[in-house]
Amino acid sequence: MNLPFRLAVAAVAVVVAVPVAPRAVFAAQNPAVQNPAAPPSEPAGASPEHRSFPAPTNLQVLPKDLTGEQVHKIMEQWEGDLGSGCRTCHAVDPKKVGPNGRPRLNFADDSKEEKKTARLMYRMTDKINTDYVSMVPNSGQSVTCGTCHRGHLGPEPFVPAKHEEHGPVPAAPNATPNAAPAAALPTSGQ
Ligand code: HEC
Ligand code: HEC
Repeated sequence: MNLPFRLAVAAVAVVVAVPVAPRAVFAAQNPAVQNPAAPPSEPAGASPEHRSFPAPTNLQVLPKDLTGEQVHKIMEQWEGDLGSGCRTCHAVDPKKVGPNGRPRLNFADDSKEEKKTARLMYRMTDKINTDYVSMVPNSGQSVTCGTCHRGHLGPEPFVPAKHEEHGPVPAAPNATPNAAPAAALPTSGQ
């Protein structure tokens, strides 16, 4: 599967009249990677230990030529989109202890279920954008993890606003006024 190419196909429809290089297109769908073509530069004063990200060794869904820094930016984006930490998806390596005394994470390890689910989710999101969202006339948006997750690991169920035209919802016998809307839900067990 040529993933960068498929990302390019998706974004051609949204980036109008701009010569599209696959890298630029990947950046458009991954806002965390602002300028993937720029040579890595160290901000003045940053400690090299803290800023260096090893090249990835086990990418199966992201483009394999991403640098460690680019992968890190995408990971921070996912962290925010899902309201989850690195440990949600990455297993600890008990043999490697960091300077703070806590075990480091083994990022290339695939043992956590959440990491496998995240790969499935990345493929799904890519397909949604490539096959559907980019077909919307004048499409200018793409679906991200945050579109569904909105800062939660498990997307919250959407509860539509009540229709006023059906009249007031009858209160359950023992309900307090504040509990009335929840009592009307079939899942409330009342
Ligand atoms: C929602 C799950 C999830 C979260 C949260 C997450 N990651 Fe990842 N991470 C993944 C997946 C999935 C991959 C593999 C991507 C692929 O196969 O192309 C990965 C790959 C990586 C890699 C590359 C490993 C290698 O050698 O191939 C690094 C480094 C990494 N993550 C760091 C982080 C850091 C740092 C954080 C926290 C800021 C983080 N991740 C948060 C799911 C997650
Ligand atoms: C179209 C909506 C949608 C998008 C986009 C989406 N997800 Fe999800 N995701 C879901 C739903 C729904 C579930 C819950 C599935 C279930 O439990 O049956 C879920 C579950 C997950 C889980 C498992 C959570 C758990 O409790 O173990 C992870 C991890 C995850 N998504 C990561 C991602 C990542 C990373 C992205 C972006 C690359 C993403 N998702 C994009 C809808 C979405």
